[in-house]
Amino acid sequence: MLDRKPRQTVSTEVRIRAFKIMKDLIAELKGAAPHALHTIDPPYEELLEIVEEIQENVGVLPELLVSCTPISDISEYEYVHPFDVAVFSITTALALESVKRINDVGIGAFLHDIGLALTKITADHIEGEGLLEDDIKSYRSHPELGVKVLRQHPSISAFVKAIVSQHHERMDGSGFPRGFRGPDIHLYSRIVACADVYSSLLHKSYLDKTINPAEVVEYMMSFAGFELDKDIVRVMLSCVAPFPEGATVKLSTGELAVVSQLSSGVLTRPVVQVLAKEGENWVKTPEEIDLRQPEHQTRLIVGVV
Ligand SMILES: [Fe+2]
Ligand SMILES: [Fe+2]
Repeated sequence: MLDRKPRQTVSTEVRIRAFKIMKDLIAELKGAAPHALHTIDPPYEELLEIVEEIQENVGVLPELLVSCTPISDISEYEYVHPFDVAVFSITTALALESVKRINDVGIGAFLHDIGLALTKITADHIEGEGLLEDDIKSYRSHPELGVKVLRQHPSISAFVKAIVSQHHERMDGSGFPRGFRGPDIHLYSRIVACADVYSSLLHKSYLDKTINPAEVVEYMMSFAGFELDKDIVRVMLSCVAPFPEGATVKLSTGELAVVSQLSSGVLTRPVVQVLAKEGENWVKTPEEIDLRQPEHQTRLIVGVV
């Protein structure tokens, strides 16, 4: 059991290619003159290839289970976040079955925040957090700026544009830019909105550790039916785990452990291998425990290391 390798839900090669495409696009947008946005050619074909490969990668798993990409520096957020939002959205769209245009969901997810590169907002403000009044206005313009870039391009469908323009709309009308409610928000936009919130909270839990990934799941459940579509949240939380396999985590007992297998159903309780007892007393042979079992009920994951 102990030699089990972490399972990669999306291959490293696909990840690296996706990160490069997004990095290049963001750099191009940051350097663009405001009157020349129509000259930017979104990398449609390259993204389509990646979206199809993600579908193949997650489709071969016995159960749909993916998780976020751990990041250690805020500078990685702007290109890792769109990738994770795409993986979460595609996985959820596949599980929902009613979604016909998975490719559009994936491409919209990749492009959802491209408008941010045209503002002064830096990646340090994850999803607009901690912004001053002036900057909030600029931040809130990013969905429309994103659509402006895509408007001229015939290969980009109306579904993709809807995702970019509506990914901050909320079911209870509290979102922006238009304050749309419930069914007025396109289904694909609602999927990407859930993935966007889930990914940003998970990355926050990895970066500043003020929230732990298990609490992120609680937050998602608390938004369900209010800001976020409750059915989509339910499906997303059944197939997107808050911890990636291979993550080192701290348990409530003070032990250090590594996540060795995600568990469907109870995503906050994976199988872990305990590497060190309290006080960093490293063990010779890691003990594998399934946190779902009643005898381990008191052991909770309290953070990622
Ligand atoms: Fe956004
Ligand atoms: Fe986002």
